[in-house]
Amino acid sequence: LKIAVFASGSGSNFQALVEAIREQAIPATVSLLVCDKPAARVVQRAEALGVPAFLFDPKAYASREAYEEEIVGRLHEEGVELIVLAGYMRLITATLVEPYYGRMINIHPALLPAFPGVRAIRQALEYGVKLAGVTVHFVDGGMDSGPIIAQQAIEVRDDDTEDTLAERVHAVEHELLPRTVRWIAEGRVTLNDRKVTIRPGD
Ligand code: GRF
Repeated sequence: LKIAVFASGSGSNFQALVEAIREQAIPATVSLLVCDKPAARVVQRAEALGVPAFLFDPKAYASREAYEEEIVGRLHEEGVELIVLAGYMRLITATLVEPYYGRMINIHPALLPAFPGVRAIRQALEYGVKLAGVTVHFVDGGMDSGPIIAQQAIEVRDDDTEDTLAERVHAVEHELLPRTVRWIAEGRVTLNDRKVTIRPGD
């Protein structure tokens, strides 16, 4: 399964996915990093891991559709079959969503549908939830709103700060994302309407 990861920031999930695929014999390859921030740390991680990167500056394009069309062209060239959004901080339009619906997933640091959007960990702490968590879902046209594939809860401690909770959230993400990609790569994930089912492994 050929994968493109879209990321804008640190890229710890990008790295965890590339390493898990290599170490755990997941039948997949990350063939491309797509990044809208050429100075982001994820770009250095891609270099260190030997993953080619498509970097672009959104301001150099007339519209979101214009750079998305270029991205789609590049994805076709590479034969990308699955898009993984891992900290990609841009809204995406039908230009990307339509051709990849059911083949594009996102990782979000909250138990959706609670706390969509930015700063989800802080939102959850401020709300006072006792269970935080991580969600991996298919991407539809909305904000963090697509069909859910996998979730994992994390207990919030009384003395948690955004930093301490974020650390445990990231640790969970680095396991849950590769696991979900494995299920998809093994052809075990089915999307029917909004419902996702996962066939047990052998
Ligand atoms: C993660 O928390 C992910 O859930 C969210 O953005 C963050 C990216 O972190 N969508 P990193 O860049 O992978 O370290």
